Order: sequence, then C-alpha cells, then structure tokens
Amino acid sequence: MRGDNKRIGVLTGGGDCPGLNAAIRAVAKTAMLNYSMEVVGIKDGFIGLIENKYSILNYEDVSGILTEGGTFLGASNKANPFKYADLSGKTKDVSSVVLNNARILRLDSLVCIGGDGTLTVAYKLYKKGLKIVGVPKTIDNDLMATDATIGFDSAVVTATEAIDKLHTTAQSHHRVMVLEVMGRYAGWLALCAGVAGGGDIIIIPEIPYDIKKVCQIVKERHKRGKRFSIVVISEGARPRGGKMVVKKIVKDSAEPVRLGGIGNKIASDIESITGLETRVTVLGHLQRGGVPTPFDRILATRLGTFGCDLAAKGEFGKMASLKGRDIVAVSLKEAVRRNRQVNPRDPIIKAAMAVGTSFGV
Ligand code: F6P
Repeated sequence: MRGDNKRIGVLTGGGDCPGLNAAIRAVAKTAMLNYSMEVVGIKDGFIGLIENKYSILNYEDVSGILTEGGTFLGASNKANPFKYADLSGKTKDVSSVVLNNARILRLDSLVCIGGDGTLTVAYKLYKKGLKIVGVPKTIDNDLMATDATIGFDSAVVTATEAIDKLHTTAQSHHRVMVLEVMGRYAGWLALCAGVAGGGDIIIIPEIPYDIKKVCQIVKERHKRGKRFSIVVISEGARPRGGKMVVKKIVKDSAEPVRLGGIGNKIASDIESITGLETRVTVLGHLQRGGVPTPFDRILATRLGTFGCDLAAKGEFGKMASLKGRDIVAVSLKEAVRRNRQVNPRDPIIKAAMAVGTSFGV
C-alpha cells in the first residue's frame, strides 16, 4: 500500500438490494483490519459527495450488519452528478463539486458499490480524476464483465417463492397466474426464478413473445387436464412487433426509464383470447428487500474485500468481478460498456425447453 493511501470512502448507489451491508462491511473491515485505513461512509450514493453527507465509520458501525437487507449508508438512483436536479427540477452538471468535496474530505480512494447507472457515473468521475474502484451489485444481474452481481441470488429466491405460492392458488382456482418481475432490459431474474419455480411460460426481453403462441400453450395445458398455468414475465418484455411498457421517466436518474405494466397487458390479452380466468401479480420492490442469501453474503464479502485491496494497491478505474470461481479485476470501462442480456441460446434456456417450458414463441 502507498504510504499516503490512508482514507477510503465507500458508497452504495442506485437501487438497493440484499447484500449491500455485507459489501460495505467487507470493504470497511478489510480497510481497518488489513490496511489501518480510516473509512468514510458516504450517505445516499453520490448525493453524499454533492451535499457533503458522510460519517467516519468505526468498527462497531460495520459489525453485526452482514445479514441485514438494504444499506445503512442509504442509496439513491436519482444521484447523477452529471445531471443533478435542483429543487425546481432543473438539472445541471455538479461533477466538479463531487471532485472538490472528495478533495476536502481527503479521500485517497472511493469504493462505489453499484450497478450499471452508478458505475457509469463512477467511470466518468474516474476519468475526471477521482480514484475509484467498483463493486458490482444489482438484482438485474445485467453488468458486463462479471458472472454475478450482489443481490441477484436473493432476488431470485424471492421471485421463486412467489411462483411457489402462486402455484397453489392457481391450482385451486384453475386460473392463469401471471407474475411480473423486475430486471430492466435483461431477463435473468425471470429466467432463473421461472426455471427454479417451474413456470410454464417464461417471457424475457431478449425473446419478444407471440401472444397467439402463449394462448395456445395455455389452452393445450387446459385440454390436457392441467387447468392452470404460470406465466413469469420480465418487466422489460414486449410482444413481437410491439413495445416495452414504460411506467414513468425519472429525469434526473442515471437510468431514467422505469418499466412496468407488461404483466397486466399480457394477462388481459390471455383472458380475452382464451376465455380463461387470469390474474396478475406484480412483485415489485419485494425483490429488493429481505436478508441476503448465503451466496450473496459470500459474494459481497469476496467482492468487497477485493475492492478494498484494489484501492489499497492504487489500482483505480477497476471493478472487482466474479469470473468462474475467482474474483478478478476488470476495467470499469469494460463493465459499463453495455448491458449483459440473456443470450437466447443460454444453457439455462436450453434446459428449460428440454423440460417443456415455453418462452412464448
Ligand atoms: O435496477 C434495479 C431495479 O430494481 C430494476 O429491476 C427496476 O426496473 C428498477 O430498479 C426500479 O427502480 P425504482 O426503485 O426507481 O422504482
């Protein structure tokens, strides 16, 4: 470690997820125990560096938080310093304020625990001179250059439990049950929970669906005596030749588009075409809550520890990443190049199709 590398900042940006506290703990404990660094907890993502909201963390602050959901530092997915909104809603570039405040705070490094939006901002700030290291988290699992992100496994468990519960009521009432899950433009969450929960039809953004095919499958199941069907659909899904359903635009967010509503659309189409009673459940932010799974706790501990090591070594502009069983350093530039979507030839899809699961085409 360089002699002057004594003060490390840590922040959590973007949408929260289970495992963030575990990651903060990993960064902070590694910094304190292995490098004798002082740790500054930046509040509410980049807002903390714009509005000077932070606190010096001691060991007790990061002890006993491994299993807790959320982030005790707070997070914001509206904290884009390159497009920061004032009270009137007007946006402006306050990135130089961030750099200046980091200088005043005497931060020798900053670990940004975030997804695509946060790490894109982090990369831009790195290019402007901030000494940044990234740690990947998002329930969407859509970051390039890592095999997994913190929070995804926990969200899959929540969505799978929802499918399990929908199964029983679907059976009792002989209904079609549609479950809309999050994931933005990537279908990882719908795919993995759909396969784990035995969804009959899984619809993801990467494979636009054919409503006729969806209805045909539902009717065939009905004829075969399976008088219920479970449809798991990503919020970013769309019909062939159709559009994604946008719920709202959050102008000052690093990722302004908020998706949602496709579950209602497909449910009403299924009901009107097949005549079968159909209900829809939008799982929403439940997917971002709760305790992290053991997988996420381990991943957060490994990625956070490694992220702190990178900062201590002065290896900035990099992100800690899971590759196979190893944690390695990748460039932030590569990590935010584009979203990692599901390849329609993914082995999980192949296996699902082999057991009769439909992807709506
Ligand atoms: O990126 C995480 C995520 O939960 C997405 O899956 C979802 O589209 C979005 O954030 C929801 O954002 P918000 O919390 O602003 O509603």
